[in-house]
Amino acid sequence: MSDPRVYIKDESSGKSLDLPVIRGTEGEPTLVIKSLPSTLGYFTYDPGFTATASCTSSITFIDGGKGILRYRGYPIEQLAAGSNFLEVAYLLLTGELPSGDELDEFHHDITYHTMIHEKLNTFISGFHYDAHPMAMMAGVVGSLSAFYHDKMDMENPEHRMLAAKRMIAKMPTIAAACYRHHMGWPTAYPKNTLNFTERFLHMMFSVPSEPYDINPVAAKALDLLFILHADHEQNASTSTVRLVGSTGANPYACVAAGISALWGPAHGGANEAVLKMLDEIGDVSNVGKFIDRAKDKNDPFRLMGFGHRVYKNYDPRASIIRAAAYEVLEELGTRDPLMDLAMELERIALEDEYFVSKKLYPNVDFYSGIIYKALGIPRSMFTVMFAIARTVGWVSQWLEQEGTPTPIGRPRQVYSGPGERQYVPVETR
Ligand code: SDX
Repeated sequence: MSDPRVYIKDESSGKSLDLPVIRGTEGEPTLVIKSLPSTLGYFTYDPGFTATASCTSSITFIDGGKGILRYRGYPIEQLAAGSNFLEVAYLLLTGELPSGDELDEFHHDITYHTMIHEKLNTFISGFHYDAHPMAMMAGVVGSLSAFYHDKMDMENPEHRMLAAKRMIAKMPTIAAACYRHHMGWPTAYPKNTLNFTERFLHMMFSVPSEPYDINPVAAKALDLLFILHADHEQNASTSTVRLVGSTGANPYACVAAGISALWGPAHGGANEAVLKMLDEIGDVSNVGKFIDRAKDKNDPFRLMGFGHRVYKNYDPRASIIRAAAYEVLEELGTRDPLMDLAMELERIALEDEYFVSKKLYPNVDFYSGIIYKALGIPRSMFTVMFAIARTVGWVSQWLEQEGTPTPIGRPRQVYSGPGERQYVPVETR
C-alpha cells in the first residue's frame, strides 16, 4: 500500500504540491522537500536541523522516544555485553559481523597500521606542554594527509578503506603521544602483541624503567566505553565529517574537522565538563543550587551530561555506563565521591518537573568521566577517548557517503540584513 500523500497548498498563489514520502527501515515517515523551491518557491527553515534528515544511512538506528540504539541492526546492549571494540569497528565499517578469520585479518590490518611517521612525533613535540590534547589531535590528524600521498585515489574503494583503517589504527597512537608529550615522557611505540585497547593503555601509561602490566578491569571497561561511543548516526561531529567529505576533501581533513566539532562542551566535550561541574557542586548539599541555575533562563549554566537532541528518554548508553562505573569502582577497590554525587544529582533532577517536562535525562557523557577518572585518564583526555572511538563512526559514515553519489552540502539561509543600498565614498560619509 503506497503512502497517503502529503499535500500542501499555498493559499496565496493557489499552487499545490504532493510531497513524496519515504520511510526508513523502521517505518519512520520522511517528507522529500527538494522540489519545494522550484514548484512553490519556498525554502524550509530548520536551525540546528532538528527536523531534517541530511542523508539516508544503514549504519546506526536511534529511536529517541524509546531509548533504542542499534549498530547495523544489533542492539547496543547486546554488543556491549558480548562483543569487543574491534569487532564492532568491523561491523560498522562493513555492515556485517566478521567470521573468525575475517576478524583475525582485520585485527592484523589495524595492528600493522598503528605506527605513525617519526616526523609526527616531532610535530607533537612542538606543542607547548600544556596544550589541550584535543587541539593537538585536530592539528596532527589534519596533517596526516601530508604523510600519506600513496593510495589517496578516493575514487578507488581499496584506497578509501585503507585510509579508514589507517585512521582507526593511528588515533590511539597519536592520542597517547599527545598525552606523553604533556607528561614529559618519552614516546611509547605500539606493541603488536597487544589488542587494540590494551595497546592503547600500554602506550598511555607504560614507562621505560619498568614493565607495564595491563589491568584487565581497565582494559575491559575502556573497550566497553569505546563500543558505546563508536557511532551515533548524524550527530554534530559526524555531520561535520559528511559535510567536509561532500566537498571531496581528503578523509584525514574530514576526521580532523570531526575532532574539532566533537570538542565543543555541548557535544563530546561534555564528559570533561561533567567532571568540572561535579567538582564545582562539590557536595550533595549544593545540588539544589545548581539545579536551580540549570532551570534559570537568565543563567547560561546547563546541567552537563543531561539532555539530548534525539533521546527524550534515558540514553541507553548512559544506563550501561552507569552500571559499568559501579562495577569498575568496586573491582578496582576504589570509591569516588563524585559517583555518589552524580547519582544524587540524577535522582534529584529526574524528580524535578523542569527536567521531567523537557525530557532531560542523563546522556552518554554523564557517567563516562567517572570511569575514565578511575582508570587514571586525566580529564583533559576524556574527549580524546571519545574521538578515538568515534573515529570508527566517522570513517564508516564517510565511506558510506563516498560510496554513493552525494551533492556538496550547501544549506541556504533566511537573509535578515539590509536591502539594497548605494555605496557612499568615505569623504562624503
Ligand atoms: C553528545 O547528537 C548526538 O548524538 C550527540 C552524542 C553522540 O553520541 O554523538 O550523543 C554525544 O553530544 C551528548 C550531549 C552532550 N552534551 C551535554 O551533556 C551538554 C548539556 N546538554 C545540552 O547542552 C543539550 O541538552 C543538548 C545540546 C545536548 C541538546 O540540546 P537540544 O536538543 O538542542 O535542546 P535545546 O537546547 O533546544 O533544549 C531544549 C530545552 C531548552 O529549554 P527551553 O528553551 O525549551 O525552555 O531544554 C533545556 C533548554 O534550555 N535544556 C537544558 C539542558 N539541555 C536542554 N536545561 C538544563 N540543562 C541541560 N543540560
